[in-house]
Amino acid sequence: MSEPSPMTDSDTPAEATGSDPVTQGGASAEAVGPQMSIDVVSIFPEYLAGLQLSLIGKAVDRGQLSLDVHDLRDFTFDRHNTVDDSPYGGGAGMVMKAEPWALALEHILAGRSSAEGEGPESAQSAGPAAGGKPTLIVPSPAGQVFDQRIAEDLAARDHLVFACGRYEGIDQRVIDWAGEHFDLLPMSIGDYVLNGGEVASMVMIEAVSRLIPGVIGNPKSLTEESHEDGLLEYPIYTKPANWRGRDVPEILLSGNHAAIARWRRDRRLERTAEVRPDLLERLDDLSKDDLAALQRFESERSTVTE
Ligand code: ADE
Repeated sequence: MSEPSPMTDSDTPAEATGSDPVTQGGASAEAVGPQMSIDVVSIFPEYLAGLQLSLIGKAVDRGQLSLDVHDLRDFTFDRHNTVDDSPYGGGAGMVMKAEPWALALEHILAGRSSAEGEGPESAQSAGPAAGGKPTLIVPSPAGQVFDQRIAEDLAARDHLVFACGRYEGIDQRVIDWAGEHFDLLPMSIGDYVLNGGEVASMVMIEAVSRLIPGVIGNPKSLTEESHEDGLLEYPIYTKPANWRGRDVPEILLSGNHAAIARWRRDRRLERTAEVRPDLLERLDDLSKDDLAALQRFESERSTVTE
């Protein structure tokens, strides 16, 4: 994968050229406009090209989602398109400079205000973040840990902007400045360190956009999956009923829907107790049957380990 070609000596940001690999949406939007606009700023816009594939790409093609990827280097003016410099106070690595970020984010804010008041084409069904500001997500291992609840919250917003930092991170002053214009959310996808925010942004964009009504063909598939209600999902099987000597659990062939639902619920509880007991501790709406099932698994486990 090649790096973005450096801009030649020009004092005009090249953003308006339309050459971004993932700049789509809008053109094919239906009369009601996209339900959500997503902007991503990165020095590696090609990274985000994978978002054109599959259900998200289709939602963009249908005009449900607008997705624009901006090259941070298009907001630099020197011959090397410099986006980083050494840290004040010393230390390893480089820090992303404030000004290109401010220009990129201002460009996005300007596009937003010119889209407002354009009539029915700009109507959006989701809501803005608190205070009517767009949401700026800054992926960082120092952020709040992203989870399904946060994905659900973000899916109800109308404009998400992802600022993909690289190197040691972004000058704190532009983050503080952005907090005045955006609902600012530093967000981590887990307790490990990546090389930059691109992969983390793709993770969050996928988790959020699949929750937008109409993006996934069958909305029922959203209701019985891991984390939907704080439990992991049950094991699933398809034909043949016997594969290499292994049978599908008999109850799934019984046609008894109530018994199948209970069996599935029990498997979710059992799997969650085994793999993620921390999730169970957070649940306060378990039924009597759920609690009885959990006790059964616990005593079965202690018999096995005795
Ligand atoms: N950038 C580097 N590591 C990250 C992480 N764990 N989550 C989000 N962004 C990151």
